[in-house]
Amino acid sequence: MKKLNTSMNKVAALFCFTVITFINVNALNTKPFPKDFKFGVATAAYQIEGGWNEDGKGENIWDHLVHTNPTAVANNDTGDTACDSYHKYKEDVAMLKYLGVSHYRFSLSWTRLLPNGFANKVNQRGVQYYKNLIKELKDNGIQPLVTLYHWEMPQTLQELGGFLNNNFIDWFGDYAELCFKLFGDDVTNWLTFNEPGPICQHGYGLGDLAPLYKSPGIGEYICGKNLVLAHARAWHIYDDLFRSKQKGSVGIVIDSRWFEPETNKTEDIQAAEVMRHFVWGTYINPLINGDHSSIVKEKIAKRSKQQGFKRSRLPEFTEEEQKYLKGTLDIIGLNHYSTYLISAQKHPDPDAMGFYVDCEAVARQSDDWEKGGTDWMRVVPWGIRKLLKWIKHTFNNPKIMITENGFCDNKDKLLDDDRRINYIKTYLSNIRDAMDKDGVNVVGYTLWSLMDNFEWTLGYTQKFGIYHVDFNSPNRTRTKKKSADYYKKVIATRCLTDM
Ligand SMILES: *[C@@H]1O[C@H](CO)[C@@H](O)[C@H](O)[C@H]1NC(C)=O
Ligand SMILES: *[C@@H]1O[C@H](CO)[C@@H](O)[C@H](O)[C@H]1NC(C)=O
Ligand SMILES: *[C@@H]1O[C@H](CO)[C@@H](O)[C@H](O)[C@H]1NC(C)=O
Repeated sequence: MKKLNTSMNKVAALFCFTVITFINVNALNTKPFPKDFKFGVATAAYQIEGGWNEDGKGENIWDHLVHTNPTAVANNDTGDTACDSYHKYKEDVAMLKYLGVSHYRFSLSWTRLLPNGFANKVNQRGVQYYKNLIKELKDNGIQPLVTLYHWEMPQTLQELGGFLNNNFIDWFGDYAELCFKLFGDDVTNWLTFNEPGPICQHGYGLGDLAPLYKSPGIGEYICGKNLVLAHARAWHIYDDLFRSKQKGSVGIVIDSRWFEPETNKTEDIQAAEVMRHFVWGTYINPLINGDHSSIVKEKIAKRSKQQGFKRSRLPEFTEEEQKYLKGTLDIIGLNHYSTYLISAQKHPDPDAMGFYVDCEAVARQSDDWEKGGTDWMRVVPWGIRKLLKWIKHTFNNPKIMITENGFCDNKDKLLDDDRRINYIKTYLSNIRDAMDKDGVNVVGYTLWSLMDNFEWTLGYTQKFGIYHVDFNSPNRTRTKKKSADYYKKVIATRCLTDM
């Protein structure tokens, strides 16, 4: 099998075997992905592990939300058992092995390791779980790509304000240091935070995701400031204490849609650019350049002033903080799913506050775009190429790992998932185009997700997996979907073959 693959790779080195296929007029890119390009899949602790209070694990904000506010989640679903990966991790790794992935992106549950959030008491049984998982991965030749924080604030720290308390920078730094120390000999690729946008805008602004804290126009900016400083703290700890020995990298994962102007009017073109700087730049710009982009600072400062605030609702970084932040990214993780059309529009109420109010733009999706399982899941493959190109030009060609991309439907046990295959194929083709034709530095692709799992407030209604999970069975039986075999073939041939 190995031999066959190698010789196939050789033949395929110049051109993929696929017949040129036309999908929505756009030809698939037929160039193979480079040899060192990494293909993987992703999951996150709360969404798959279960074992929510087993072996000494402490409560986090999602445990708290689902138990105190059950109707906030579709069908009152919880992640109490989820995919039961806490007990079935060996089966998960066998699936990864079958797929042939080079890496597996998963996250650590902070309260499994530190039940109270603070680093004074380490839960050895939690440590052992991750040691076992990492060993199983290494034994099977799979690289761990580890997210430290995937939406799971310890409840104890939340009660002290969570991201709104600037002591969070210390708490997170202590936690990160412990993880580097415990696992860093085997884990060389670290990601600090998953999706600061939803963490801050939805967790502390709109208040529709855990911890359901509503402070639009204020909370999300304080959260953002503490979050980027906490990232920088972890990066500096790694750089000072671990890098020379462990030789790894520390990045962050930013989610971004592509924002296309609704029309060719100058104001819409500008509004789309503002939106990109708000959604993507708010977190990336401080870590690359040490500060927010001027467009973001000006917009929020102006509106804050008109509203009678003494200073901008966007807290400034001191000069010292700017120095501390600048250049603290070894790699950028990009989560991308869909595209929006943007037009300029001021909020009618001058006192209104909020992230998107400050943008002075509105976003919508076209009904012409194929819809997946949930309203925002629209299939717009060209959007990822435009986004990658924009990041390259705006941020001086950084190294990018696609840390999430994938398709959801809402049908249980849809094993012949041709629409997911088409999504993966056309998005990968546009990524290949971005690398090949636009020179974007993309080093890997991580499909979301290995298996159907707990999709936050949408519960188990949205299916992102290339493996089906039977949530009605105590066994949480996993069954391969057609897309798993498609992805396996792409990985083996490094080509976007037909199924
Ligand atoms: C969800 O929980 C609420 C309150 O506990 C209950 O009234 C409702 O019937 C539950 N819904 C479902 C779908 O179980
Ligand atoms: C904007 O102008 C370009 C070039 O003329 C055209 O291709 C494109 O369709 C226009 N976009 C919209 C939304 O009208
Ligand atoms: C659960 O798994 C066990 C062992 O693989 C099997 O014997 C049993 O029939 C399964 N039960 C269900 C409900 O699928």
